Amino acid sequence: MAKSESKQYIYIVQSSKETTKCKIGKTNDLERRLKEYNNMTGKSKETVYQYLFTCEVKDMAKVENDLKEKYSALREEKSKEIYFYNSVLFKHYVTFIQTHTLFVKEIFIKTVEKKEIVKVVKKTTPSLLERGLTPKDVLQKAQKIDNDEFYTRYEDVEKELSMYDKSIWNNKVVFCNCDDAVDDEEKDTSAFALYFLQNFKELALKKLICTHYSGPVDLFNQGAKGYIFTKDGFHEIGKKEYPKNYTGSFDDPLSLKILKEETDIVCTNPPFSRAIDYWETIIDSGKCFLIISNITNVVTKAYIPYFKNNKVWAGYNRIDYFLNPKRQLVDASGHWYTNIPIKNRPKYKHLKIVPLKEIPEKHKKYDDSKILLVDNDYIPNDYKKPFAVSARPLLNGLLEKGYKIIAKNESYIAVVNGKEKFRRVLVQKI
Ligand SMILES: C[S@@+](CC[C@H](N)C(=O)[O-])C[C@H]1O[C@@H](n2cnc3c(N)ncnc32)[C@H](O)[C@@H]1O
Repeated sequence: MAKSESKQYIYIVQSSKETTKCKIGKTNDLERRLKEYNNMTGKSKETVYQYLFTCEVKDMAKVENDLKEKYSALREEKSKEIYFYNSVLFKHYVTFIQTHTLFVKEIFIKTVEKKEIVKVVKKTTPSLLERGLTPKDVLQKAQKIDNDEFYTRYEDVEKELSMYDKSIWNNKVVFCNCDDAVDDEEKDTSAFALYFLQNFKELALKKLICTHYSGPVDLFNQGAKGYIFTKDGFHEIGKKEYPKNYTGSFDDPLSLKILKEETDIVCTNPPFSRAIDYWETIIDSGKCFLIISNITNVVTKAYIPYFKNNKVWAGYNRIDYFLNPKRQLVDASGHWYTNIPIKNRPKYKHLKIVPLKEIPEKHKKYDDSKILLVDNDYIPNDYKKPFAVSARPLLNGLLEKGYKIIAKNESYIAVVNGKEKFRRVLVQKI
């Protein structure tokens, strides 16, 4: 164990009681520092501090300051030596230190003998009575939201968000309002929250607000809560800010207040069972958004008017997989939707815009009302009348290529030989 006064160390230490936090500090004596943590007056006997990482550096004050600067949003507002902890963010802290020019070497310290720790489970979830629900309500809700319990994969969030110009995030307040929990375990932290936390500085965000929904099925198992991150540090949305029976729902009065009064950009994967009323809430708010929704929603009455008037369009990517609560891959048919400008849509290349006679017979037909139906992304460029397309070409940018949605704001259900076909939309060359 290195003890010399001349040596300088940086450490990351954690209390067994606060696993969503860690402390990052500097010392000349690692052993003594750990003892001080463990002997701190006022701490209960069950609290044990352990080093998670320790290393020698050439100038501890400089390294500590650089860390503070780099991770300012991840430091607790009240107590600035405390940083947010989860396994992914921890790796960031360690990598930052290890790649710092003043890093010398990692030091391994004998861990403190663990006393038996009694896990205190805080009651954060209000009772059914407190939430004004009966067990029957819960059962009905649970059946309805069964299909909602999917996580977005980190890579899908990263792939889409990294395609936008960085400047769109500059000094903006981002609100992740559909079960975007932040916790000590990576699996209990939403990929949206994680992406913004890891890139807070690079994106020059002003504020990140993440709320967690406490429904009958609590995907992230955390009760209703929320966190606010700013460049001056983070804090949990305080009890005084929560109305007594705050649910974390996107349409809870507090969430709506945050949406209307504070938010610049909403970004999340909302529950499928609430896709339409979520959509209406976001559209009504007039805010910028970047959300995931089902591919076929573009051909619904709720979405069509906004696509028709070029107020909303598809994002860059589709989503083929989600993760279920057991973290297994499940097939998905999602797509990004947004009202943030996008450039050079790579999916234009999927559109096959050709003269009608070049469309293979199997991909064109007329329905019982003599309306032309085309599929497989074939689009006639010499057909003057309205024709019907499926969701796919609309998501691939057809409306940006000289075509418009026509007539009513409703989808078109073709009837062929007396049989109804899936929903389409009527479009026409401009
Ligand atoms: C498709 S999952 C996505 C979760 C998370 N945003 C992600 O991307 O990994 C939708 C989540 O919304 C939650 N949810 C259901 N009703 C909600 C509501 N009214 N307000 C907010 N979230 C809700 C579900 O419990 C579920 O965890």
